[in-house]
Amino acid sequence: MLATRTALPSLARQVASRSHLAPALARNLSTTPNLLTKHNGSDRKPDAKDKAATAATAAKLDKPPFARTVDEVTIPYPDDSTRHPSKDVGHSTTGGKVGRHTQRTLASFSMEGKVCVVTGAARGLGNLIARTFVESGANHVAVLDLKPDECKQAADDIDAWFTQHGQTQPGELSVEGYGCDISNEQAVQDTFQRIRQKYGRIDVVVNSAGIVENFPATEYPTEKMRKLYDINVHGSYFVAREAAKHMLADGIRGSIVLVASMSAAVTNIPQPQAPYNASKAAVRHMAGSFAVEWAKAGIRVNSLSPGYMLTSLTRTILDSSPTGKELKQTWENLTPMGRMGNPEDLKGAIIYLASDASAFTTGTDLLVDGGYTAV
Ligand SMILES: NC(=O)c1ccc[n+]([C@@H]2O[C@H](COP(=O)([O-])OP(=O)(O)OC[C@H]3O[C@@H](n4cnc5c(N)ncnc54)[C@H](O)[C@@H]3O)[C@@H](O)[C@H]2O)c1
Repeated sequence: MLATRTALPSLARQVASRSHLAPALARNLSTTPNLLTKHNGSDRKPDAKDKAATAATAAKLDKPPFARTVDEVTIPYPDDSTRHPSKDVGHSTTGGKVGRHTQRTLASFSMEGKVCVVTGAARGLGNLIARTFVESGANHVAVLDLKPDECKQAADDIDAWFTQHGQTQPGELSVEGYGCDISNEQAVQDTFQRIRQKYGRIDVVVNSAGIVENFPATEYPTEKMRKLYDINVHGSYFVAREAAKHMLADGIRGSIVLVASMSAAVTNIPQPQAPYNASKAAVRHMAGSFAVEWAKAGIRVNSLSPGYMLTSLTRTILDSSPTGKELKQTWENLTPMGRMGNPEDLKGAIIYLASDASAFTTGTDLLVDGGYTAV
C-alpha cells in the first residue's frame, strides 16, 4: 500500500525554482518579474519597500533550494495482489502497430528462430518485451516471474492474442511460463536448465524483474534495502550468469539485456530512492563488465535504461497516492518530451539490442527517457 506522509505543497515551487529543469512550472509560478513591474495593479514607480519585498522574494525563489528530494514522498512497494495481471497487464496490448505487417523491413531486426527468455514478464515492461519478441518473429519465448500461475496465464494470453490477432497458427508458438524468483540462485539455475531442456538452446535473455521503493536514505528499512539489492543487483547477476553459461556451453552467440534505468545516471526527484538508484548503476556497470568478459565468445551484453514509463507499477503508485497527480506532473515537467513514456516506446530499443541488428553493439547502455538525462 502506498503512503505519502503529507501533501507536497512546496514541490512545484521547488522544481519551478530550477527554471532550466521545469520551464513550464517556472513560468507559472515565478512571481519575480511581476513584482518588478506591477504594484497592486497600478503603474506607480516601485518605492524602497517594494524593492525590498522584490529582493526578498527573488532571493527566496531564485536561489536554492534547487532540485532535491522530498522526504515526505515515501512509497513502499505496492502489494502485488492489488495489480493482478488478469486485471492489469501494465501496458496496452494493442499499443503501436501490433501484429503482422507486409512492408519491407531490415531482416537483421527479425527475432525469427531465436529462443527468448524474459524475467519479470507476468506484467509491465517484461510482459511487453515478451510480446514484442513474438511480434518480431520469435516462436519460442519463456516467461519468468515470481508466481507460477501468473506466468502460465501471461504465456497463455500471449499465445491466444497472437493466434487471434497476429495471424499465428494454433501450435505455431511455444510460449511457456516459469515461476522463478531471480534473487534465488538455485531457482534461477533450475529454471534455465528446464528452459534449455525444453527448447534446446537459449539465444536471448532479458532481465526485466526489478523493484523500487521510496524512503529517505536515513530511514530506509535495512531489510527492504537488502531485498532490493537481492533482486535488482544479485538477481540480474544470477540471470545473466546462467544465460552466459548456457550460451558458452552451446556455442551460442547470444544477446543478454539487463533492464537498468535512467536512475543509474541521475538522482530522481522528488522521491528519495538512493538504494534503487545505486542498484541500477550497478546493473548498468555489470552489463559493461560482462560484455568485456564474454565478447570473445560472441556473447553481447547491454543495458536498457528507461525513463519514467507508465506501467502497472507506476500507475499503481500514481493512482493510489494523494499527491500522485502532482508527482506525475513533476516527472513530466522534468522530461523534455513533456510526457511519461508508454511501454511500447521501448519496443524498437529492445528489438535492436536483442536482435542481430546490434551485432557490433556490446557493453553499452541505451537510454530511452524522453530526454530526461540530457537536461
Ligand atoms: N516503469 C518505469 O518507469 C521504469 C523505469 C525505469 C526502469 N524500470 C525497470 O524496469 C523493470 C520492470 O519494471 P516495471 O515497471 O515493468 O515493473 P512491474 O512491477 O510492473 O513489473 C516487474 C515484474 O517483476 C516481477 N518481479 C519482482 N521481483 C521479482 C523476483 N524476485 N523474481 C522474479 N520476478 C520478480 C514482478 O512480479 C513484476 O511482474 C524493473 O527492473 C524496473 O526497475 C522501470
